[in-house]
Amino acid sequence: MQSYIGTREFSDILLKLEEKGGMALGPEKAYLLDEKLGKLVAEMPPHSFPELHGKICFGQDSALLDRLVESMTINETFWFRDKSPWTMLEEVLLPRWIEEMENGKRHRVRIWSAACSFGQEPYSIAMCVASHLKRSGADNRRNTFEIIATDISRPVIRMAEKGAYDGIAISRGLEDTYRDLYFEKAGNAWSLRDEIRQMVRFHPFNLIADPYGFEPFDVIFCRNVMIYFSDARKRQVCRSLAETLTDGGILFIGSAELMEDCENVFSRNLHKGGVFFRKQTVSW
Ligand SMILES: C[S@@+](CC[C@H](N)C(=O)[O-])C[C@H]1O[C@@H](n2cnc3c(N)ncnc32)[C@H](O)[C@@H]1O
Repeated sequence: MQSYIGTREFSDILLKLEEKGGMALGPEKAYLLDEKLGKLVAEMPPHSFPELHGKICFGQDSALLDRLVESMTINETFWFRDKSPWTMLEEVLLPRWIEEMENGKRHRVRIWSAACSFGQEPYSIAMCVASHLKRSGADNRRNTFEIIATDISRPVIRMAEKGAYDGIAISRGLEDTYRDLYFEKAGNAWSLRDEIRQMVRFHPFNLIADPYGFEPFDVIFCRNVMIYFSDARKRQVCRSLAETLTDGGILFIGSAELMEDCENVFSRNLHKGGVFFRKQTVSW
């Protein structure tokens, strides 16, 4: 069990982490929380654990709690993660949207990467859209795609906006053809070309917020984040995501995630063995 904090303080802080970021941490994560609290105490006043505990749990120091929440996030990500969303985007959604635009039935497409980490997910979406439009002779439609990327962690968002990756990050999941087409190498870093970087708009955003207040999206990628939430939070977030989708809009979750709690607001569908969820209201 943890060494730095006692059981009561641990429970107090867990409650705050859940309220603020939806994080449901089991006792097996006590060591991690202990480590992060130790760092906060070393880095920031008040420099003593009892005061820090008091400020986070009973004071009004939301900045301190934000720092703790940000430090507890798990930001693991890579390019074109899981095969199925990209197949669905390429083979079903993009051809349909282009056709709808050509028939005057659609003027824009809105896509949200709702826990975007360092940007690999939204930039994969942008590369997928850009290359598909080029191949379809529809390059002039690029400005009709709005890609919004959000994450609870502000430092992570700041990194993502830069669109610069080291040799390890760039190699994880990215095909050489995409790398050579859309990145420039400068020293050890690979920088995304402006034509792709500028297709994505980043903002900090907490999925626990209620209401969300976004204009509706056609597709939401909310992958590998709800696994850290309690069942009650998952249900709340699923409802909010459904409210933020257009009728018939699509939700992608992580391949290892379950949506049992959300099946009353979404229908479960398959494309070539990959699962996606459609907002329950209208059938295509
Ligand atoms: C494991 S990463 C997943 C990144 C990407 N979606 C993927 O599948 O590769 C989870 C991300 O969720 C973010 N996150 C955690 N809690 C959040 C919340 N309450 N609201 C928004 N983002 C959150 C973390 O900061 C982290 O960057």
